[in-house]
Amino acid sequence: MLFLAGHAGVLAAYGVPTPAYDVLGSYRDNLARPLGPRLAERPRAGDRRWRVLGRDVGFPIGVPACVLNGGEEWVRHFARNGYSVLTYKTVRSRAHEPNAQPNWVFAARQAQSLPPGAAAEVTADPWDWVAPGSPDVSTVNSFGVPSLAPEQWMADLERSLAAVDDDQLLLVSVMGEGDGTGLVDDFAATARLAQEAGASVVELNLSCPNTLSTSTAAGVKPPLCLDAGATVAVVEGVRRALDDRTGLVAKLSWLDGARLEALVPRLAPLVDGIAGINTLQSRVRRSDGEPTFPGRELAGLSGAAVRDSALDFTRRLVALRDAGGRHFDVLAMGGVTDPASFAALFALGADAVQSASGAFAAPFLARDCVAALGETLPRALQPAR
Ligand SMILES: Cc1cc2nc3c(=O)[nH]c(=O)nc-3n(C[C@H](O)[C@H](O)[C@H](O)COP(=O)(O)O)c2cc1C
Repeated sequence: MLFLAGHAGVLAAYGVPTPAYDVLGSYRDNLARPLGPRLAERPRAGDRRWRVLGRDVGFPIGVPACVLNGGEEWVRHFARNGYSVLTYKTVRSRAHEPNAQPNWVFAARQAQSLPPGAAAEVTADPWDWVAPGSPDVSTVNSFGVPSLAPEQWMADLERSLAAVDDDQLLLVSVMGEGDGTGLVDDFAATARLAQEAGASVVELNLSCPNTLSTSTAAGVKPPLCLDAGATVAVVEGVRRALDDRTGLVAKLSWLDGARLEALVPRLAPLVDGIAGINTLQSRVRRSDGEPTFPGRELAGLSGAAVRDSALDFTRRLVALRDAGGRHFDVLAMGGVTDPASFAALFALGADAVQSASGAFAAPFLARDCVAALGETLPRALQPAR
């Protein structure tokens, strides 16, 4: 009750776990300050380091592109709480308002993982709640990728890049608008702005499930990566536009066997990493049958409900990498809410593992992973002698 009444700060001061984001508040209010406890010291796995996208990083857990990395204060919060592979929230080439509230709702009835890629029908009420720290947390969101204007996010990004430690990596997620060559050009222009602001790795959001559309009955478009031709054109255009030194990551949704097999060999020569999965585009209704997100029937499902999709995707992605002879790093995510779910994705061969829903709902997730796995997690670099 204290949390929902706007007193999250009191709870945080006493170390009481709460979600990091006030789902009843507006996007703008939340952007100013993360909620929940901040650790006095960053949890570390001693001096062990892992190689991720050409950088030596501390324990390789991170927060992916999402509102939790929407600005400097958020990046500072999660960097301090033990996350070392952070992706700055997707930005655009011009200011873009969020979809109407609600934007983010607990999917409390979705405590079990769905079969990989299953088309989900989710019942979720804006007043639903899952106890902080529960490994069964799932959520649905429909933000529509809001963005500040470039001059604002570039300044904030510069400060955010300066706020992380040397053994932490901050990628920047970007997205373009439009169709055909216009889409490619807008992706490329936004990627160049991120590079100009100091980003050493740019991630392309090719998998957004929440882009509004007036031409589809559901009110939103399917993720771009379902169209292999358009996806490759965007990645090629961005690779040409960036300096050779800037790393490039493609973020995908869960894709079936044929789609992933067709896409990965075409992406591998162009990228330094592939990230996935994004949220699963799902039909979401309230318990009284009304849409949870008015005007948008489809929204993105994440957390425990997509865990098996993430495991399935990562297993196939790593197999394609191993078979293809072109190395790229794998940033795995989807349903990581406790040390066991982190370890399961890492064991499949991911180079780093990120968590959005878990980081939102379990403020001590990174600390718990470092405590449980910091000394034993494989594939650490040999310390310099
Ligand atoms: C509230 C919310 C906002 C998100 N926004 C973005 C975004 O802007 N760009 C992006 O690439 N992915 C976005 N995602 C997807 C996450 O980065 C992640 O791929 C997905 O949630 C699966 O991970 P999880 O199960 O740990 O939540 C968002 C997810 C959530 C929950």
